[in-house]
Amino acid sequence: MKISLPATSSLQNADFTFGVATAAFQIEGAAESRLECIWDIFCAKPGKIKDASNGLVACKHYELWQQDLDLIESLGVDAYRFSISWPRVIKRDGSLNPIGVDFYIKILDSLKERGIKAYVTLYHWDLPQHMEEQGGWLNRQTAYLFRDYVDLITKAFGSRVYSYATLNEPFCSAYLGYEVGIHAPGLVGIANGKRAAHHLLLAHGLAMQVLDINSPNTLNGIVLNVSPCFAATDSAKDQAAARLVDQRTNQWFAQPLLEGRYPDLFDELNASDRPPIEAGDMAIIAHKLDFLGINYYTREMVAYDDQLGAQKVYPDGLPLTDMGWEIYPQGLTEILVSLDQQFDLPPIYITENGAALPDGYAEGEANDVRRVAYFQSHLEAVHRAIEQGVNVQGYFAWSLMDNFEWAEGYVKRFGIVHVDYATQKRTIKASGLAYRDFIGQRYSKKAKVS
Ligand code: FCB
Repeated sequence: MKISLPATSSLQNADFTFGVATAAFQIEGAAESRLECIWDIFCAKPGKIKDASNGLVACKHYELWQQDLDLIESLGVDAYRFSISWPRVIKRDGSLNPIGVDFYIKILDSLKERGIKAYVTLYHWDLPQHMEEQGGWLNRQTAYLFRDYVDLITKAFGSRVYSYATLNEPFCSAYLGYEVGIHAPGLVGIANGKRAAHHLLLAHGLAMQVLDINSPNTLNGIVLNVSPCFAATDSAKDQAAARLVDQRTNQWFAQPLLEGRYPDLFDELNASDRPPIEAGDMAIIAHKLDFLGINYYTREMVAYDDQLGAQKVYPDGLPLTDMGWEIYPQGLTEILVSLDQQFDLPPIYITENGAALPDGYAEGEANDVRRVAYFQSHLEAVHRAIEQGVNVQGYFAWSLMDNFEWAEGYVKRFGIVHVDYATQKRTIKASGLAYRDFIGQRYSKKAKVS
């Protein structure tokens, strides 16, 4: 099976960036050589992770990183998006841990030698546990600690990085972690979720100020998860429920970042649930972005619910991934076009897109035909968004390899490379080969033209 797009598609241009993405906690392992983070503690609590697993070993990437970079190079990608584990690069007193820093410098240097651009995410959910003990993202001080870490680490990395994203999906950190409690640290309450979200957004803005000084030549921005929200029926109640979910997920982060204000939902919250905004915060949060990263997986179908206001629904017969997420490629075009109509957007990168699907792994081969089809349809969706005028500059497949899928553990596999967790053997799946061939033909085509 192949991935192919119209020859005229701007995704075929060599200046469109293709990459693969990972995150530190999901692949590194080697927990003993870093500080504890909120996910270590969360995983240790019974019932929080579906297969009762944790990130202590994961894909052993801390040990096997050279082999993993060989793999990335063999895929022919232009760029690698990965995250820095904050608890690996600092000590308890906040100063840098040279051993952890050196691990990432080796990766960055090796990427440079291989001609692969480094897209570095500074925070992908692994808050140092000692900070959680001081309130974590509920404590405004954590935003300033993040700023200090960003200051130190970006100075240490010097000119090795191509792009910095401050945060990955602050919605998930705040809402899943502090409001509904299905992710670390597992707290609940609307006030908690909104407070954590505000401090994350503030942390982002403060980090952008530091990046202006320490790293003005990198592409600096943030990564949001977005989903178009649809009402399950035409009823006014369901329509209102869909709007509520849109405000809670998409708008709660996009509007502060791009317009310096919270959406209308702010006024609809009980006063005691509203985030604690201090003078000047919104201007810090709305710092100009060099790019906006968009992670897309599915759409939301929403119905009214008396208790919760809104509830996700799963109509029968829709194609679903192993996560139970509907495969809805046109949603990627729809959300990109609607964001573009609503905001004056900076250049967009699709920083994550992919699916947990059966691998068909047998005898050293993984014939994941449904994943190939998933990438084909979603790349077409990006192509259509560009045709409709959205400035999309790149696309990263989630994920380079199977890894620790948070509350789902190791059972859900998102990789374009299969990982045998018993032996740590990596095998490129059919989707990885198709992605490699698609990226490769782009260059051979270009060589023929020039
Ligand atoms: C996103 C996360 C990423 C991965 C995918 C499936 O929300 O950013 O780490 O778990 O979902």
